[in-house]
Amino acid sequence: MKNELKNISKLPIGIFDSGLGGLSICKEIVDILPNESIIYLADSENAPYGEKSKEEIIELSIKKTALLLSLNCKVIVIACNTATTNAINLLRENYNVPFIGIEPAIKSAALKTKTGKIGVLATKGTLASDLFLSTSNQFRNELEIIEVEGTGLVRLIEKGDIEETIPLLKKYIYPMLEQGVDNIVLGCSHYPFLIPVIEQIIPKGVSIIDSGEAVAKHTKKILENNKLLNLSSGIKTTTFYTNNNLEILEQFLNRIKLEGEASFLKF
Ligand code: DGL
Repeated sequence: MKNELKNISKLPIGIFDSGLGGLSICKEIVDILPNESIIYLADSENAPYGEKSKEEIIELSIKKTALLLSLNCKVIVIACNTATTNAINLLRENYNVPFIGIEPAIKSAALKTKTGKIGVLATKGTLASDLFLSTSNQFRNELEIIEVEGTGLVRLIEKGDIEETIPLLKKYIYPMLEQGVDNIVLGCSHYPFLIPVIEQIIPKGVSIIDSGEAVAKHTKKILENNKLLNLSSGIKTTTFYTNNNLEILEQFLNRIKLEGEASFLKF
């Protein structure tokens, strides 16, 4: 039994997102879990998930989960707020493997805000989900939450056009600032790639909240609790698959200094 657990612990962590956004989370995971092998699926072919129906998001999430499990992943990180908020409950009911998800970090913003007003920038699919509604409702007595759909941002990020997001960001963020928010929650794993441009358009006292580090810490905790942490510092592999543009995937990996083998795969 002990040996079996030791072998399972060497299996990879599976991570998926609608595309390149989850690489921001993958980077945090690699940083705090250096012994772990990783398989990352960038479903860029189907991005953006945020504009799809709940049924479509569930179907795409099931497909990515099934593929990661066929590649022997020991846990699955859903590095996508849209997929988490629409599909994680169903995935947990149907698959006997630990799932770690990502949701907009309203709690962190609630702890930091002085104005009592926070902004949440997320996809339509996340903001419309029951999970987001129930999480955000827990804070609505103490907080004013200004929700804005980031329509169009993911498409530009997927093309690598970061600077081109500035007009849209101004359109989405200025109204939040006018209403007095002092914390802006990035409720989509693609948006951390926009932090350098968001910082150009927000005043100094306004904070940007992103959940990547918290997800990585939670992943470590789940591995520990399930005795799945890889304690041996031997050979590990980090593999990235995209079903779209390999060159852009490689650009993003270089941008955040994430090392590994990147390839095209039809999935
Ligand atoms: N990166 C995803 C998220 O965190 C999805 C973006 C999209 O595909 O619309 O919500």
